[in-house]
Amino acid sequence: MNAPTTKALVVGGVRLADGTRTDLAIADGRFVEVADAPADAERIDADGLLALPGLVDLHTHLREPGREDAETVGSGTRAAARGGYTAVFAMPNLTPTTDTAEAAQYVAELGRRDGSCEVVPIGAVTKGRQGAELAELGLMAAQGVRVFSDDGSCVHDSLIMRRALTYLKPYDGVVAQHAQDPRLAGPGACCHESEISGRLGLPGWPTVAESTIIARDVQLAEFTGGRYHACHLSTAESVDVIRWAKARGIAVTAEVTPHHLLLDTPHVETYDTTFKVNPPLRTSEHIEALREGLADGTIDVVGTDHAPHAVQDKDHPFDIALPGMLGLEQALGVVMEVMVDSGRLDWAGLVDRMSSAPARIGRLAHQGRPIAVGEPAHLVLVDPSRRATVDRQRSASRSRNNPYHGRELPDPVELTVWAGRVTYHR
Ligand code: NCD
Ligand code: ZN
Repeated sequence: MNAPTTKALVVGGVRLADGTRTDLAIADGRFVEVADAPADAERIDADGLLALPGLVDLHTHLREPGREDAETVGSGTRAAARGGYTAVFAMPNLTPTTDTAEAAQYVAELGRRDGSCEVVPIGAVTKGRQGAELAELGLMAAQGVRVFSDDGSCVHDSLIMRRALTYLKPYDGVVAQHAQDPRLAGPGACCHESEISGRLGLPGWPTVAESTIIARDVQLAEFTGGRYHACHLSTAESVDVIRWAKARGIAVTAEVTPHHLLLDTPHVETYDTTFKVNPPLRTSEHIEALREGLADGTIDVVGTDHAPHAVQDKDHPFDIALPGMLGLEQALGVVMEVMVDSGRLDWAGLVDRMSSAPARIGRLAHQGRPIAVGEPAHLVLVDPSRRATVDRQRSASRSRNNPYHGRELPDPVELTVWAGRVTYHR
């Protein structure tokens, strides 16, 4: 996966996560000694801005091929670059589904052609994400695919999950599960099952529909020795299950989205379908458990679940509208607000959860690396003190389903560099 190399760059006066001040020099896509920077290098004065490794998103929906009206690889990765990301893993719920080696190759090729960051295809676990028959896991793995998911749907059949975990072991692949028991939370389920769902007359999505699937899956991971990742955790019980599994030494990892860390169930009281998402927004006790899990490392990564939808798919009664919300452009700001500014996570912890850990789980060796001479030059410069009111019209995404519209949040990203190439500059 080649990023274009560009002219050399010197970024003067940055602050690193550990507090040291330094100049950074970049040539041929890598960090080099400042003394070795070519004389004609472009100079950017960072003036004390914080330099972090480029962010990596393990959970992005790019919608191309199939729904280019909602997002393309070009627009989605521009949103990623604006959010400080230098790599995104593209979920396979596309048309056609990314369930063959050719389809995976095609998504990677779109990324090389149109990407403002690296685009890493995720392969489907089952053909057409139908849950009945394994997809071409080995052929996709031979193309370098390491993450497999039926996201949008749950791999609900225990035998299919067992086989996927077993089959992927020699490839070092991971099954990323969208945990939603289809009997406990069917296709219509759309609101955290609670007093609120009852009052609003919306079909309930109970917490146990998520945590019971994860409880089953972590035991299958232990039994098979396969690698398992739980996507978009939304409940306190799920955090407990992951904590238990890790204490037993099972090879499991977990993810939380920015929106599940910040937004609560009462947001749906206006029936604004921007706030319809899978799994649904939960209550403050669950949000607190997710923040705690992310702080203590039970939850390994923040994945955006950036899910763009066209207006005509959101402009429906709440129970019919498509679920999903944008995330790439505000993810860093939300995590700063909820985790860093509150003292729950330091900058090194944020870098781990948003860059190193997702790259490691996805086996993307050249991303999520430290800022050091010889390393690939993936970088985001942030101004931790800058805040702004989110305006959904000012977005690189083609869609407008931004749940933070009108909210004041940190707006930290000043510059993003992917493999030595400036992909965003405020
Ligand atoms: C996602 C989408 O729109 O593709 N929707 C969502 O509500 N999160 C699918 C998914 O991540 O489950
Ligand atoms: Zn999902």
